[in-house]
Amino acid sequence: MDLWSIYPILVLVHVLAATMWVGAHLILVTGPLIKTIKFNDVKPTLEFYRAFSWPATIALIVAALAGILIAYLRYPPSSWFDFGEPSGRIGEKIVLFAALLIVSAYAHIKVVPVMRAGGERAVRLTVIYAIIATLLSLGFPVLGIMIRFGW
Ligand code: HEM
Repeated sequence: MDLWSIYPILVLVHVLAATMWVGAHLILVTGPLIKTIKFNDVKPTLEFYRAFSWPATIALIVAALAGILIAYLRYPPSSWFDFGEPSGRIGEKIVLFAALLIVSAYAHIKVVPVMRAGGERAVRLTVIYAIIATLLSLGFPVLGIMIRFGW
């Protein structure tokens, strides 16, 4: 099949999956995380996190897979890591994706058990990790728009 003929569909899938991942994080930090800080209790964040973590993780993987296909259409893979050039934004996205996977894996293994136990330290770690994950996640749409407009 000609990949170009499904380019708009790939972008649609990419953007929809992206909204699921980034949207979930923006809701997390503007809703349940505020409650966590206000009441000094990890429960609101933990409950929301439990509800969204799997669907959002699957969406993140779908976004990355569709992203690789779109990237392949836009620029030759040999130019993906020309950092500083518009095509290098793709490499920057791939590096960001790897960084996000490392931070998420660490949070799953180290932070979630502390969250389950509750207490002051759990609140502190939860706030720090939620903010780091959200800031990293916001990097994707920013780089995506830069690719879109050739910056
Ligand atoms: C890790 C692998 C990824 C690669 C290689 C990649 C690649 C791309 C490319 C090539 C575009 C330009 C689309 C176009 O031709 O218009 C794009 C746009 C975009 N990407 Fe990604 N992406 C990746 C991951 C993600 C993730 C994980 C998210 C969000 C969770 C995301 C969010 C976006 C958004 C919002 C756009 C703007 C859509 C547009 O205006 O065209 N990307 N990406």
